[in-house]
Amino acid sequence: MAILPIIETPDPRLKTISSPVETIDDDLRAFIKDMFDTMYDAPGIGLAAIQVGVPKRVLVIDLQDKDEETGKVIRDPRVFINPEILEESEELSVYNEGCLSVPEQYADVERPAVIKARWLDEQGQSHEDVLDGLLAICLQHEMDHLEGILFIDHLSKLKRDMVLKKLAKARKMAA
Ligand code: NI
Repeated sequence: MAILPIIETPDPRLKTISSPVETIDDDLRAFIKDMFDTMYDAPGIGLAAIQVGVPKRVLVIDLQDKDEETGKVIRDPRVFINPEILEESEELSVYNEGCLSVPEQYADVERPAVIKARWLDEQGQSHEDVLDGLLAICLQHEMDHLEGILFIDHLSKLKRDMVLKKLAKARKMAA
């Protein structure tokens, strides 16, 4: 188990456009395991490789729903390698997003509510599926990281500056 350091805004590496994965091998699978360890430890529901400084098109997601009766977290780890969005709905949904690279700051972001996506898993198998709800939101958020985009980049400059100011204040108080 390895917990990797998560890079935070304004680290310029977060603006990197990540490169496609060409070989899915044991080294990549070991890295993906570290990404899950890092995401669960943070804790978060999604992590892109660039958030640990690796500019590859790899994402991990686990929404970690709670079982309604027992209250226990149900783990559902998903790996997305070289993901693509094939179609997106005109219908939008709004979600109060956060990001491990913009710690403890949240803002409403509007995105297509339903997407059709294609990706490879850690065995190199291709998948194509229609996704909605939080999974669709989370995948779009993580895919933005592959293009060097953070959720705050979807906000107006005024709102983005407010979030960054709050983040700077929180960091100062923690120092
Ligand atoms: Ni993020």
